[in-house]
Amino acid sequence: MSKFKGVTVITHPLVQHNLTRLRDRRTGPQEFRRVLSEVAALMLYEATRSLAVSPVLVKTPLATARGYQLRREVVLVPVLRAGLGMLDSILQLIPHARVGFVGLKRQEISLRAMFYHKSLPPDLSRFEVILIDPMLATGGSAVAAMDLLAELGAKRVRLINLVAAPEGIRRVQSHYPRFQIFTAAVDRRLNPRGYIMPGLGDAGDRLFGV
Ligand code: PRP
Ligand code: URA
Repeated sequence: MSKFKGVTVITHPLVQHNLTRLRDRRTGPQEFRRVLSEVAALMLYEATRSLAVSPVLVKTPLATARGYQLRREVVLVPVLRAGLGMLDSILQLIPHARVGFVGLKRQEISLRAMFYHKSLPPDLSRFEVILIDPMLATGGSAVAAMDLLAELGAKRVRLINLVAAPEGIRRVQSHYPRFQIFTAAVDRRLNPRGYIMPGLGDAGDRLFGV
């Protein structure tokens, strides 16, 4: 947990080690992609710890065993572009998940997040939704994505995020107090241009070199 109720800061040493490599300005796009993908898998493990399961019986070659299966289907929703960097490794761990996409671009001056793409299942009420975005800065993108998810009926949303600013956490929590946030770090604050300090810079640019 963290000083923000409802926010889980994942302090696992491998997560923190990888986060530090991602913060390092010397880490180029190739390594950034690889490390972001690795850290996403580690974070998913923590973020899905509380997923609901149902008891089931399964026949082994020898006898019947009690087991568990996920109670609800999972939809992964990466926020383009940077969320794409965390998708593949998460999908490897939940290969049966569906994948929806949200394209959002934050405007440079106003910092308002504008949609340029939406493709999601029409009814999210029966799903566990995992929203994926490495950066939570003003919270505008996360809240816009959550507004869309909520409009489509989503009740259970977990945000997997790498670096969060206190401003973004407060904004998300004021709109969606029941949605959970999992992050590797809560940083100091935003700078006047809306970047997280110390952060890791522009995640999309560092991921794709553009
Ligand atoms: C970045 C980041 C988040 C958003 C966070 O995306 O990946 O989606 O900014 O900022 P916010 O909390 O203030 O909304 P950006 O809009 O730069 O697009 P990109 O991923 O394509 O670079
Ligand atoms: N988006 C990023 O990629 N980085 C920030 O610090 C803020 C928004």
